[in-house]
Amino acid sequence: MNQISAEDRNRLCRAAREVAAHSYSPYSGFRVGAAVYDGSKIYVGTNVENSSYGLALCAERAALCNAIASGAKEITAIAIVCIDAKQDSSISESVPCGACRQWIAELSPQASIIICGQEESFSIQDLLPFPFSIQKSVSG
Ligand code: THU
Repeated sequence: MNQISAEDRNRLCRAAREVAAHSYSPYSGFRVGAAVYDGSKIYVGTNVENSSYGLALCAERAALCNAIASGAKEITAIAIVCIDAKQDSSISESVPCGACRQWIAELSPQASIIICGQEESFSIQDLLPFPFSIQKSVSG
């Protein structure tokens, strides 16, 4: 897993917090921001809900899409913040959901996963030790 400096960690959490303010989450009222880093640029994403509830897109996957679409290099870190989680709430309100873990395993397997406000960072092996995977047939 990549190591991340305290300065980069703070920049990523600041970016994640800023983008969370743009969340479209009128159904849950739970605003999430994510910031993906490739060692040079930060790519942000926020959760976008839909009146067909199951179509909600999580912040982490939105940020990963932004990174891919922008031509990001190898992703070294992803920071996540849930600005509506209560200060004293358990960490389970702030960790990535199962679908996002599967995306992280595929697209940023070396990333340091930062839960803003928590000291400890996680690897995807910590959060999803046995991801689904199949052989790639083409590159790109
Ligand atoms: N959400 C995320 O953005 N990321 C996660 O990893 C878990 C959940 C969003 C989806 C939905 O808009 C709201 O949080 C409540 O589930």
